[in-house]
This record gives sequence, C-alpha cells and structure tokens, in this order.
Amino acid sequence: MVNQVFNQVTAHSTFPSSMSIVEDYDMGGNAISFLEVDGFRYPIVDSEIVKGMSQLKAKDDDILLLAYPKSGTHWTWEITSMLLQGKAETIPHWKSKVMVELQPQEVIDAFPASPRVLNTHVRYNQLPLQAREKKCRMIYVLRNPKDVAVSFYNHHKSFENLYKNYNGSLNDYLPFFLSGKTDYGSWFDSILQWEKDIEAQRDRHPIHIMYYEDMKQNPVEEIRKLAGFLGVSGDDSLYNAVADKCSFENMKEDKEPFDPKFKGKLLVYRKGQVGDWQNWLTPDQNEMFDKVYQEKMKDSKFKDNIRFTLP
Ligand code: A3P
Repeated sequence: MVNQVFNQVTAHSTFPSSMSIVEDYDMGGNAISFLEVDGFRYPIVDSEIVKGMSQLKAKDDDILLLAYPKSGTHWTWEITSMLLQGKAETIPHWKSKVMVELQPQEVIDAFPASPRVLNTHVRYNQLPLQAREKKCRMIYVLRNPKDVAVSFYNHHKSFENLYKNYNGSLNDYLPFFLSGKTDYGSWFDSILQWEKDIEAQRDRHPIHIMYYEDMKQNPVEEIRKLAGFLGVSGDDSLYNAVADKCSFENMKEDKEPFDPKFKGKLLVYRKGQVGDWQNWLTPDQNEMFDKVYQEKMKDSKFKDNIRFTLP
C-alpha cells in the first residue's frame, strides 16, 4: 500500500509535532485521505485544533465521553446530557460542539451546559492534560467491532469532505479497517489500550463502562445505572422518558435541526441496530474478521461482554 504525503508542516510552540494530509489506498486501490498528526490519523479536520487539544482547559466537573468512532457516541451523549438536565427534552445542540479534537477553546467554553459532556475518539494519553490532572469523570462506550466496521465503512463513504471522496467496496475496505489504517487507528489497539488505561486510572478517574448492545437490549436499566454514576436523582418515569426520547427513530427525527450537516443523509443516524453486520459480511469476510478478532482480543476482559447479536 502506498502512502502519499502531500504536505508536511512542522511547528509547535512547546513540542514539535508533524502534520500532513496523507492519501492511503484500500485493498482495491481506492484512495482515502486523512489528517495525520504525530503518526495518528484523524478525519480531515482543523489541524491547529488537533495540535492544541492537549492544552485545552478543562473544568473539575467536566465529563469525558470516550468511544471509538461509530460505537454510539451521539446516543450516549444525548442520554447523559438529558439525565444531567433532569428532563427528557432534546438537547438543542450538536454534540460535536464539545468534541475536543474538533472545536477551539472558545466554542467549547461557550457551550451552555454545566457540567459539560466533552467527547472524543482519541486515547487516554491524548486527552487534554487538565482533564487528566483534574481526574474528570469518564464514560467509556464499546460496540461490537463488526457493526462498528460496517458503520465506519458507511461513514467513510458518506463524509465526502472529511476523507476526499472515498468510494471502495466493503470487500476492499475490511482489510483496511482490520489492519488499523483508518482515522483513530485500529479498533483493536484502541480497545486494548483503553482496557489498560482504564485499569491504570481506576483509582484516579471515576469511570463508567457501557456497551451499545446492552443499551439496545435494556435501555432503561442502562440509563438507571448511568444516572447512578452521574449522581442524578431520577426515577423510573425519567429513565423511561429518556429511553424513549433517545430511541433511534426519535433521535433521527429530533436531532436533525441541530445537526444541519446531516440533513437527509445517512451519516450519523443510519440504522441503529445490533447485528446489521450480518446483512453485509459474506461468510469469508466473517471468517477473516473472526480470525483477527480471536487473535487480537485473546487476553481482553472486554471480550467477555462484547456481543455480536442479541438473543
Ligand atoms: P449505524 O451506522 O450502525 O446505524 P457514533 O455516534 O459513535 O458516531 O455512532 C454512530 C452509530 O450509532 C450509528 O450506527 C448510528 O445509527 C447509531 N446511533 C445513533 N443514535 C442512535 C440511537 N439513538 N440508538 C441506537 N443507535 C444509534
């Protein structure tokens, strides 16, 4: 696979960092582009913001919502924000307004909510230093990687500007995904690194772990547990109302006015199901996926809770 570097910028006030737009190719030779900063791939977003991310000022009560892309970040952000406001009313904002690799300090600071639910797809050691020093509360969301791969494939094809018009087939894309060449790197590396960091940080940061599949199967119970973590004093009527307002169908309809970029497109609210991969992966592709999964995840504790289908 060829790596083509278009430009190279090397400048930073406190420590040197390298930045470039890289064009890579899937197995079929279809081009896809990323922003690469210090060897880590991002969508093509503002490189100055990515560069300044570690210096972002955090507040003591900030909550960090953390997930590999396509794991249910929008959904969990909406649920968390509704619980914190104590009512099941749609949040009239785009979650990306408080996404740390996307927004400058002034936009994040102007966000009208307290506490704030900052969110990101980066790893622990890339988080804003202050958020780490202040031991901010963290919510970590996981989803089974076959559904993540299918969702990410559709994402890469749909966000034309972020990846410069990627248009490969799933067959060509899967090896690319499995070898960790996408933005935010390998799902496996990300999950395994978070597993280590969560273990190491447990005594510093309060951490709550959620699985997309559990949220789908029993949303009210998962919302109740999350409320307990957040210290929100709600009751069943609130949890039921939040679960309903945050159902896939309701969010798809309600959030559109606040996510204008997504209007009428299958970008974020695509299908929202567990096991959609079964409609996409051939038996051969599935076997290839299983091989990599078994090998990479053999020592993972998360593995015990990751479900590829629901009963
Ligand atoms: P699909 O592409 O499988 O539909 P993220 O927010 O981390 O980018 O994840 C996006 C995925 O979460 C998409 O998956 C999207 O449809 C799904 N999603 C978004 N809102 C949801 C909701 N309210 N309930 C269930 N899934 C949701």
